[in-house]
Amino acid sequence: MLELKHINVSFRTERQDRIFGHTRQQVLFDVSMTVRDGTCLGILGESGSGKSTMGRVLCGLLKPDSGEAVLDGVPIYGSRAGRRNLQNKLSVVFQDYTTSANPRFRVRDIIGEGLTVQERREGSRLDRNWEVADLLETVGLPAAFSDRFPHELSGGQLQRVCIARAVACNPKIILFDEAISSLDAHTQVQIMDLLRELKERLGLTYIFITHDLTAITYLCDDVLFLYQGRVTEYMPVSRISETKDDYARRLLQAIIVFEDEEADG
Ligand SMILES: Nc1ncnc2c1ncn2[C@@H]1O[C@H](COP(=O)(O)OP(=O)(O)O)[C@@H](O)[C@H]1O
Ligand SMILES: [Mg+2]
Repeated sequence: MLELKHINVSFRTERQDRIFGHTRQQVLFDVSMTVRDGTCLGILGESGSGKSTMGRVLCGLLKPDSGEAVLDGVPIYGSRAGRRNLQNKLSVVFQDYTTSANPRFRVRDIIGEGLTVQERREGSRLDRNWEVADLLETVGLPAAFSDRFPHELSGGQLQRVCIARAVACNPKIILFDEAISSLDAHTQVQIMDLLRELKERLGLTYIFITHDLTAITYLCDDVLFLYQGRVTEYMPVSRISETKDDYARRLLQAIIVFEDEEADG
């Protein structure tokens, strides 16, 4: 179980005030949430609402000003053991697969980064060729792709490689930050199908950050709406139509109108 309790985060702004020194901009306000094992939590909000900041707190990269982040009862910040506990259990997939994959690495080396993490943790040596071929198959790519470079793959294929790298660490939890947002609609659905299947097969827990409500309804059990750094709604996806939250309602209406238009042709 991964929990955030009353998280506040602020950043120093560049603008320097002559009298008061640096000013700070608060980005997250009293954010709390729980991700239960084996479920998928969606974090939804428009650009700048603080989703990635929340993601960085969750993956151990950003210590909050106040509040607690706790994984399986162990606080993530404040001790080396806490950080290690997190690193052992959590992988991340980012939106920008073109920069998160080294352009000079072949696919086998990109996936190899994840295998190295697993080897270091378990003090074992893996059969690299076999593991890479197996992981490629797991994400629906031919084993022959292991020799390719990122520029020899489509966006969807490269994102599959990044997913294979995340899975290679043998994580319990995967955090996706806008991981499908820059793919075309058809490829998005294919990747979401893959994510669903992997989650079942490997017993994974997901945190899925997006600005797209459709992806949330497709993939998530619970949804948290973030608006200007505050949680405005947090509920099971199955009850989303009952929301009283303005922002959530606006998003829902946009989808319903869109679907009506589709139906009208
Ligand atoms: N390292 C940083 N330093 C200063 N401001 C930041 C930093 N990271 C994010 N911000 C600010 O925090 C706010 C939320 O950003 P972010 O979490 O990236 O939102 P989202 O992912 O929802 O688009 C934005 O106003 C952004 O400019
Ligand atoms: Mg973001």
